Amino acid sequence: MSDNKNNIEKELLSYLPEKDDLIGNLVSSMEYSLTAGGKRVRPMLVTEFAKLCGGSEEAAMPFACAIEMIHTYSLIHDDLPCMDNDDLRRGKPTNHKVYGEACALLAGSGLLTLAFETASSEKAVRLNGAEKCLAAVKVLAEAAGAEGMLGGQIIDLESEGKKVTADHLRIMDAKKTGALIIASAKLGCISAGATEQQMQAAVTYAENIGVAFQIIDDILDVTSSTEELGKPVGSDSENDKSTYAALLGIEECRRISRKLTEKAVDALKIFENGTEILEKFAYYLLNREN
Ligand code: IPE
Ligand code: IPE
Ligand code: MG
Ligand code: MG
Ligand code: MG
Repeated sequence: MSDNKNNIEKELLSYLPEKDDLIGNLVSSMEYSLTAGGKRVRPMLVTEFAKLCGGSEEAAMPFACAIEMIHTYSLIHDDLPCMDNDDLRRGKPTNHKVYGEACALLAGSGLLTLAFETASSEKAVRLNGAEKCLAAVKVLAEAAGAEGMLGGQIIDLESEGKKVTADHLRIMDAKKTGALIIASAKLGCISAGATEQQMQAAVTYAENIGVAFQIIDDILDVTSSTEELGKPVGSDSENDKSTYAALLGIEECRRISRKLTEKAVDALKIFENGTEILEKFAYYLLNREN
């Protein structure tokens, strides 16, 4: 996993534009958030599903970088004063605290568009063929858009201070966090030319770890420390967010996320072998401390 993480970090940087005198500040701001660390969960899923379905890490890498760019953009915007208004991310001051709100807004948009440039780059096409790149672009756009991550973000914002049901929270989490995690699994499958059955199993795995991932994130906002998380704890209660943790309590949330993880791992049964890393990964995400 750590080898894979190093490869991702190196390749991510290779897609950034040159820092010339005119746009240098914007590119530095994009680079700042992209290299600030982070668990690189989504690119890991892309490359692991690619390998599981008979593809290669190398070919899947442009798609892995593209999803991490979109994720990083979502974090820059999520932290803005008009959204969660947070000052710390990945252990460093948030993008707008360093570069200002206008530049942070542009850096986020820059990373979003760079994702599509990356997934349709000459390198991506040479390694995957144009048809798979087109399929990848579609998956990225759908997952990031109004029916995916952005939809989840508006539900999140409009649910602040309200009493909502567990079903409502499930839809919110499936969109705001699940969508990019499902897209990651799909991108790996696309790069590998996976079968329908393999794709379906990958999606089921990702749907379940996706919602579990957000529930754990909400638990950690209550139980962890700012040092451990690299982002401010207590942000959700400060913003009066509607979360599983606030609605159902920590113990019930742990039970639900454990069940979701078991369901995810169960979906891998259709593969004859090679699923150990993805099984361990699901439990690592469940038991993580940051
Ligand atoms: C944080 O995502 C935002 C959520 C969707 C919960 P991560 O926990 O994957 O953040 P990084 O990439 O490791 O910083
Ligand atoms: C964010 O959820 C999900 C995104 C789409 C960025 P949170 O607002 O809970 O993420 P953190 O806790 O700030 O990382
Ligand atoms: Mg948020
Ligand atoms: Mg937030
Ligand atoms: Mg959170």
